[in-house]
Amino acid sequence: PDRIAVSDLADKLAIPAVVLIKSLIKAGIMASINQSIDFEAAEQVAKSLGVAVERPQRERADGRVGEGDEGADLTSRPPVVTVLGHVDHGKTTLLDHIRKSRVVEQEAGGITQHIGAYQVTVGDRSITFLDTPGHEAFTAMRARGAQVTDVAVLVVAADDGVMPQTVEAINHAKAARVPIVVAINKMDRPGADPDRVKQQLAEQGLVPDDWGGDTVCAPISALKGQGIDELLEMILLVADMRDLKADADRPASGVIVEARLDRGRGPVATVLVQNGTLRLGDPVAAGAVAGKVRAMLNDRGESVSEAGPATPVEVLGFDDVPEAGDLLEVVAGGREARQQAEARAEARQQPEARGGVVTLSQLTQKRQ
Ligand code: GTP
Ligand code: MG
Repeated sequence: PDRIAVSDLADKLAIPAVVLIKSLIKAGIMASINQSIDFEAAEQVAKSLGVAVERPQRERADGRVGEGDEGADLTSRPPVVTVLGHVDHGKTTLLDHIRKSRVVEQEAGGITQHIGAYQVTVGDRSITFLDTPGHEAFTAMRARGAQVTDVAVLVVAADDGVMPQTVEAINHAKAARVPIVVAINKMDRPGADPDRVKQQLAEQGLVPDDWGGDTVCAPISALKGQGIDELLEMILLVADMRDLKADADRPASGVIVEARLDRGRGPVATVLVQNGTLRLGDPVAAGAVAGKVRAMLNDRGESVSEAGPATPVEVLGFDDVPEAGDLLEVVAGGREARQQAEARAEARQQPEARGGVVTLSQLTQKRQ
């Protein structure tokens, strides 16, 4: 039967793919940008957008649709999401709600480990949320060359609108070329005015999809837990535009999300594995620090022996406390790990290596 890739159809209709995908969802058809839909579905949705469709005369000779089948061992990975927004607009409330309703708590009596990142499941898919303040994920980490975020969720309170830190957040995300999903929060408040928020967003260059732009906006109440499921769907939808892939078979590389010295356990770091798989016993180097993975805990505080792409884990076994934003790599052996770390430590002493870089501590000082 005749089929067309969603991306091709969007091109043909000259509309942003998100708009098409949303129309498809409205019509009860779940398809991501890389999937294809049949002629009837394409016709139906095109009609709803005011476009008549003609059945093609001939199918493509190779019968193939979509792309993305180049690259041998690449498989889809969950998107990594950070939450940004103005003070008090509801970032923490949103993250808390998502974590509480989506992450299975460990058995009664146990203290839920808080590791600064966690993974939630949405249907048969996963999303990794970074719990660090979003601006840090962009500035401190990016300053060290780490791009951790695939999608930014911008929380804007519907009763307050776009504020200075909202604009700041938009600029961070734009600079990092990270797509933004807007959560218009506090919809339960009497003064909620989502249209005003959309107007203000449009003024910032984020034109809402229901206004013909390509910025997805989801009205929510983080407090009441309303609209969250739809928001998570929208995050996956936008993530699919990026076609996120990783190779789980290679040695791990990742980034230090946060790290501290634990009295009993020594240096403890939350690592976001970005590519490959991190395993117990792996010799690692992170910034100027070497180590060997002695133990790993997942976001529920359970011991795990390996962590694949987009998985956050707490890692024990560093010789010293690495810095947030440091890149983590698995290295060949103990000695090489130490040599690499020393070389990096030396490079850091060079003043020019630090020029123009905003560090996490500078950032926190500025904010106090
Ligand atoms: P900072 O971390 O200080 O920047 O704030 P935040 O963005 O994390 O906001 P937070 O989640 O702490 O929420 C601020 C206040 O708004 C709290 O009193 C929340 O209970 C309230 N709040 C958050 N979401 C909602 C909502 O959907 N509806 C209502 N009515 N109140 C909300
Ligand atoms: Mg907060």
